[in-house]
Amino acid sequence: MFKIPFLDLPPLRGAAGTVRLPGSKSISNRVLLLAALSEGRTVVRDLLASDDTAVMLDALRALGCGVWREGEAVVIDGLGGRLRAREAQLFLGNAGTAMRPLTAALAVLAATQGGSFEVSGVPRMHERPIGDLVDALRGLGCAIDDLGNPGYPPLRLRGPSALALDAPVRVRGDVSSQFLTALLLALPLVAAQDIRIEVIGELISKPYIEITLALLARFGIAVKREGWQAFVIPAGSRYRSPGEVFVEGDASSASYFVGLGAIAATDAPIRIEGVGSESLQGDVRFIEAAAAMGADVKAGPNWLEVRRGAWPLKGITLDCNHIPDAAMTLTVMALYADGPTTLTNIASWRVKETDRIAAMATELRKLGATVDEGPDWIRVEPLQGWQAASIHTYDDHRVAMCFSLAAFNGLVTERPQPVRILEPHCVAKTFPDYFETLFGVVTARAADIPVITIDGPTASGKGTLADEVGKALGFGVLDSGALYRVTGLAARRAGLDLDDGRAVAALVPTLQLAFRDGHVFLGQEDVSARLRAEATGLLASQVAAHAEVRQALHQLQLDFRRLPGLVADGRDMGTAIFPDAALKVFLTASAATRAERRHKQLISKGISANIESLREDLEARDERDKNRSASPLTPAQDALLLDNSNLSIEESVTQVLGWWQQRRPF
Ligand code: C5P
Repeated sequence: MFKIPFLDLPPLRGAAGTVRLPGSKSISNRVLLLAALSEGRTVVRDLLASDDTAVMLDALRALGCGVWREGEAVVIDGLGGRLRAREAQLFLGNAGTAMRPLTAALAVLAATQGGSFEVSGVPRMHERPIGDLVDALRGLGCAIDDLGNPGYPPLRLRGPSALALDAPVRVRGDVSSQFLTALLLALPLVAAQDIRIEVIGELISKPYIEITLALLARFGIAVKREGWQAFVIPAGSRYRSPGEVFVEGDASSASYFVGLGAIAATDAPIRIEGVGSESLQGDVRFIEAAAAMGADVKAGPNWLEVRRGAWPLKGITLDCNHIPDAAMTLTVMALYADGPTTLTNIASWRVKETDRIAAMATELRKLGATVDEGPDWIRVEPLQGWQAASIHTYDDHRVAMCFSLAAFNGLVTERPQPVRILEPHCVAKTFPDYFETLFGVVTARAADIPVITIDGPTASGKGTLADEVGKALGFGVLDSGALYRVTGLAARRAGLDLDDGRAVAALVPTLQLAFRDGHVFLGQEDVSARLRAEATGLLASQVAAHAEVRQALHQLQLDFRRLPGLVADGRDMGTAIFPDAALKVFLTASAATRAERRHKQLISKGISANIESLREDLEARDERDKNRSASPLTPAQDALLLDNSNLSIEESVTQVLGWWQQRRPF
């Protein structure tokens, strides 16, 4: 996952392939809480692993639940409705699906069994309203202290106190359906008698209430419903674990791939596994909205297949109350439409992870779009003059994921623009490896995938610099020296004459090479340590002198040019392999400095070494690399020279990143 300050998406062109969705956030956190409140043990499979479920799991542990992993599954030993801890301070991040139901459950448990519990979150969580739920709980007799601004977290839930359950519990339904969900999940804990919940105002986001009711049924609670205005929890209701629960894929997360298919799956479809026509989640109805915009969608019980249908997409006007989260995706699809798209009845966007109407409007305008907004609607015009933009994500996973679809602008404009996503790791809230998954199913032109080359002599620090620059940008790294080293090693092991270029080159296609987590495998053997040995370096420089060997390794190196970008280090990265690289660095350091660094490196590994002979070896290798006829070591004409003799690694990295930034359009 990308833990970097920004991720640049190069222009993307096509999409095809299969994605497996992470578990649904809404279902995951409901199931965790239900399992925790139940009698018995629950094995939860396909649980979403994300920030929002992590805070829920931590909270359950703090409340005394047994929580552990068994392989891929999470096992919860439920409380059976009896508090084990009477005091806890629960930090719930920015997870509304943890804050609202835990507040309600702990309020009624503290009231009936005694205790004191504090719930808090990140600053944004303390701006997300919870007053309507607190009012409903106080109306019941729960003791709740505001620890910050009244009506917002943090809160303290205290008890004991007497609950009045004879009269209906009344809650507003027009700000967040999570208030009603919270009561529906909490009140079975105290249902000695029928408990009636009445909704004040028009209930929004009804499909989320359907998820709540379906999951309550799985855990033994049969709620009676009167339309969408009243719900009755029958007397004697008791939570019982169903034993095992499978969490469906996240239907809101599916929306990005549905959008992707509609925009870019022109040959084969994008197949999405984990949600389908039998999903509990209301957001699966996003496919109807996407189809209205022109997507060609097929649905099976737990899969979807999406291709481009109409192109350009069709502008639509849609009431999105039933798909509040997924609908954000429509605003980016709207850029590719033939007319304006207007989404209405979306007031709840304003109280989500961020004010999503304002956020989408602001960021879409950065791309050049014309956007109008009102208290509960947004209208987006199709975009012609695309601009390169740096997208602020407001710590909102959905903003980050939505804007990845803007990277397909090359399909509608002559001069495609990259898109910069700031703080891309915010996707961890619901989809930690979103971008990796995206890159697995999209294509770009090789020429559009940025490459930074770092060439230079032996022991100049290229490898370290390339790794650090790669890490900072989220780019892959090619250590081309390793390819020559592994070739030299394999040739020696095969007993080949290293001066016979043709024989060594013929060996290259037979090598079973794999690169995993910074390690190099030859067949099953991890040869990383062997490759770094000085002796292997000498073998490498011998085989590297042959034009046939260099040719044999050429395509293998080009194959490293993958999304979102590459940092390649070696001797001829900027001259022979990636002559079109966007930034070329030629790294040097004096022979004395390089010998000293290599010496320190070896000593720190417990390998004895002599500076003088190291320096002689280095110079001999440099000579051979510089004077060979095939791709000699020489700076590319357009390379920037960096002598790092007196620079720390950080200083070199900062210099290269500075040069890179100057070449970006942002
Ligand atoms: O960079 P490293 O020291 O691992 O490279 C080992 C040898 O491989 C170099 O001395 C050089 O002869 C050869 N090499 C090359 N072209 C590259 C990378 C390495 O010729 N792009």
